[in-house]
Amino acid sequence: MIFAGAGFRVCLYDVEPGQVSRALDSTQHTLAGYQERGLLRGSGTAVEQAERIKGTTNLQECLRGAFYAQECVPEDTALKKRVFGQIDDLMDDDTIVASSSSCLTASMFAEHLKHRQNILVAHPVNPPYFLPLVEIVPAPFTWLSVIQRVRSLMEEIGQSPITLKYEARGFALNRIQYACINECWNMYKTGLLSVEDIDKVCTEGLGRRYAFIGPLETMHLNANGVEDYCDKFADGAYNVQQETFHPLPVLYDRKTAISIQEELEKKVPLDKLSARRSWRDNMLAGLAKFKSESKKETSSDD
Ligand SMILES: NC(=O)c1ccc[n+]([C@@H]2O[C@H](COP(=O)([O-])OP(=O)(O)OC[C@H]3O[C@@H](n4cnc5c(N)ncnc54)[C@H](O)[C@@H]3O)[C@@H](O)[C@H]2O)c1
Repeated sequence: MIFAGAGFRVCLYDVEPGQVSRALDSTQHTLAGYQERGLLRGSGTAVEQAERIKGTTNLQECLRGAFYAQECVPEDTALKKRVFGQIDDLMDDDTIVASSSSCLTASMFAEHLKHRQNILVAHPVNPPYFLPLVEIVPAPFTWLSVIQRVRSLMEEIGQSPITLKYEARGFALNRIQYACINECWNMYKTGLLSVEDIDKVCTEGLGRRYAFIGPLETMHLNANGVEDYCDKFADGAYNVQQETFHPLPVLYDRKTAISIQEELEKKVPLDKLSARRSWRDNMLAGLAKFKSESKKETSSDD
């Protein structure tokens, strides 16, 4: 939907035929809903955007003449290897192929391919329509021109790319996310706070701030620059970590998981997860709209 909104013609392919028609129906429906609620991105009406998206059950047809392909098969190294092998045989020499992989690096599945110089990871964040971050993770064999092309393509379609300088497991988002979950887990396990209060630290505190400035700019603003922050707070931060942090890695144990889930189920029972996910996406849509409007205001002030 994002590529189509930006004016590109898109072709969907899936090994399961029913999946292609379901995806086309759901895309049409979703775009119409976004239009109704003033959330539609890009150019043209929902109908015009949906018309830019076609589907096929033939991989060769899908790749014919494509300048860019985004692979989204399940996160399984053997499967990615197999699918990338098929793509490698069918793709044009100048087609760029990005994997949506959340953890696997291109070196793990594309090392021996003819077109490996055109292959990298471009990891979106769910739901990408409202969370624009894309982690670009090139392999050592990915050409620099390909990395640059993917980054500018992501900007062109309205996403916000970052580029890792080398392949690292967990990329960036999951490393930051795991560090955060680890501390939440430890605080719960040691009986410091309830689940509700731990989550509130983010929803009412850190998360609100981080929607606008990241942790590093926070250091910069919370003192007279990062150096001054370190002069003032580095010892304190070091001591807190030494006294409270637990050895890494943290393994999320079942006993604690069951206990956290029991608390969460009072607020979100398992049969209401889907409704809660829709609520989350609506909230993210509102935030995305707010951020895009404030960006426009800031640039008209410049
Ligand atoms: N779901 C997310 O929130 C999310 C976010 C970012 C990245 N990712 C990554 O995207 C990839 C896909 O994840 P997902 O959650 O969308 O998976 P999914 O299981 O929901 O969808 C995978 C699709 O691939 C199809 N498929 C399976 N084998 C295939 C084959 N051989 N050829 C063509 N199509 C095939 C399936 O029919 C299915 O429609 C994974 O690498 C995942 O890590 C997922």
